[in-house]
Amino acid sequence: MVVEPTKEAIEQAAAALKRGELVVMPTETVYGLAARAADPLAVTRTFAAKGRPADNPLIHHAARMEQFEGFIDAWPEGAAELAARFWPGPLSLIVPKGPRATREATAGLETVAVRIPAHPVALRLIDALGEPVTAPSANPFMGLSPTRAEHVAEGLAEIVLDGGACEVGLESTVLDLTGEPRIMRPGAISPSTIAEVLGRSVATGEEGVRKSPGMYPRHYAPKARVRIVERLESSDSGIVLGAALAPYQRALPSDPIRYGVGLYATLHDLDALGVDEILVERPPQGEAWDAVWDRLTRAGFLESGTPDP
Ligand code: TXA
Ligand code: MG
Repeated sequence: MVVEPTKEAIEQAAAALKRGELVVMPTETVYGLAARAADPLAVTRTFAAKGRPADNPLIHHAARMEQFEGFIDAWPEGAAELAARFWPGPLSLIVPKGPRATREATAGLETVAVRIPAHPVALRLIDALGEPVTAPSANPFMGLSPTRAEHVAEGLAEIVLDGGACEVGLESTVLDLTGEPRIMRPGAISPSTIAEVLGRSVATGEEGVRKSPGMYPRHYAPKARVRIVERLESSDSGIVLGAALAPYQRALPSDPIRYGVGLYATLHDLDALGVDEILVERPPQGEAWDAVWDRLTRAGFLESGTPDP
């Protein structure tokens, strides 16, 4: 049930988390399916609810740094600087795990992903619980992430806290700090801003040996087929840059951040119209567009020809 995030609703949601139940909470990136991170049974329920393979680890969310105590082993070099600069915000750090981080939530890895989200409702919920929650995007496995409460699939959790439209609209940047800093998933926080704070270069791309288990070639996909094209004809359904011309077309801004904010909502919207195909006018290239290209590639399964995992 979608509820307004009143004080009572947040207390009820925190009590549900304490009992090992799942709660959908808004974050600034996308809505997340929260569970009490220290409760292996609750974490297992998250995987079951999403239909997500158990080898895909979860991001741990806290309201303040102290709440990560026991979940992390030590903050690697540069982590404190990045946290000071970007938290609360859309950056997840992969760091060595501590004893409180469960095998279920970390998928058996020796590392753990952590972030402090920048949404008042998420922060109030985590503070009411008093400890971290794991939260993958609140969508069935490989589906489109929800950026509004009404996008959340029926039956995923009893309580869906309505926090309005997500301000960022794409999932957090995932940065591995357990070796040479490496971007595992591009997001709104770019490699160059991270490099500036770290005072060293940051690796990108998937050529590295360290892989994020969750990076499937198809992911974030709407029901309709997605294809990138140079331009849309008036009879085409899909996404254009600038101004929409036809009934089954939607326009997204030509600024990469604002494009990212609207992308999932627009894909949800076009899916709801029941179109078979979503043609996307080719967005520009360049670092600022990396997160958008990453999601479009996975939504459309554009490059690799391998079947769905
Ligand atoms: O913005 C976000 O990050 C959202 C909101 C809800 O916070 N959450 C999210 O979670 O996108 P999820 O589960 O959909 O994506 C988590 C990603 C996956 O690609 C996973 O493989 C990676 O983070 N990840 C988590 N723990 C990891 C670890 N220890 N090592 C490598 N990758 C990890
Ligand atoms: Mg996801």
